[in-house]
Amino acid sequence: MLLTEFTELTLIVIALRVSYALFTVLLIVWFSFDKLNWFYYEKNDSGESVVAFNGHPLCMCLAWIVLMSEGIVAWRYYERNCGIPHSVAKTIHSSLQYSAVVIMTIGLAITFNNHSEKNLDHMASGHAWLGMLVVFAMVAQILLATHTFLFTKYERFKMQVLVWHRYGGLFIYLGGIATICMGFEEKQAGIACSSNYCHEKIFASMLAVLAVLVAMLTMAVFIHEDQGITTAELSEKINLVTNSGGGPARVLGGGWAGSTFGGGAIYDPGDP
Ligand code: HEM
Repeated sequence: MLLTEFTELTLIVIALRVSYALFTVLLIVWFSFDKLNWFYYEKNDSGESVVAFNGHPLCMCLAWIVLMSEGIVAWRYYERNCGIPHSVAKTIHSSLQYSAVVIMTIGLAITFNNHSEKNLDHMASGHAWLGMLVVFAMVAQILLATHTFLFTKYERFKMQVLVWHRYGGLFIYLGGIATICMGFEEKQAGIACSSNYCHEKIFASMLAVLAVLVAMLTMAVFIHEDQGITTAELSEKINLVTNSGGGPARVLGGGWAGSTFGGGAIYDPGDP
């Protein structure tokens, strides 16, 4: 039976899910406003129909705000608080991240297609530059993770990659959130309203603020997880290979396992 232990971590995760659910609802409402054109085809200068631009923010926000946030949380929360087996938590984590990459690719294709069909310049903003950077980084991250955690047998190599995977993944995630906020700014500037306080602009600002809130809550879970790794989790879950000499084990959260874990132990994540 799967039991969820009600801890402060549970509260943070609930707040995170409420925030990204609210974000998604507001995003859909935003698209329904007059100046956003819902998902109707747009026209280019020659009067031909081109794919609706709104598919771009929709896909990018689904990938980053919903799937990636949940994917980061899934890693330890499901296992620790909900009693889900390690291998299942790992599968959920990777499935969410793979889905995010697929949806992100569709979102990117939509904006490039939309710009080409309308004869607009490509890569003409800081948003676009940062966006391409985080997209390439995300693809590199997922390729490296797949190769390392699915096909490599060398534990020491896995251990080294795991540190990069955790912190690199977080930087990519935060880079994506920054890109999203810049995207809303970019779109807001292009909306012709009679007032700066029209619904279209107010909602764009609200969405940018909510995106930052989602990122903060995801960070809170991440930091909480990190603290856990240096204490209880080490003694119970992670394989420690004892080493006769040497100093204490360096662990992922940046702390030292110390003599409690058999001084001189080498931290071996075993099955990261
Ligand atoms: C992590 C998420 C996102 C990434 C990686 C991303 C990436 C990109 C890229 C690479 C372009 C350039 C397309 C071209 O040159 O043809 C672009 C354009 C654009 N994006 Fe995003 N985007 C993201 C999220 C968003 C969001 C949430 C919005 C909100 C409405 C948005 C609004 C725009 C706008 C208005 C443009 C056209 C103007 C420009 O080139 O900056 N984007 N995006």
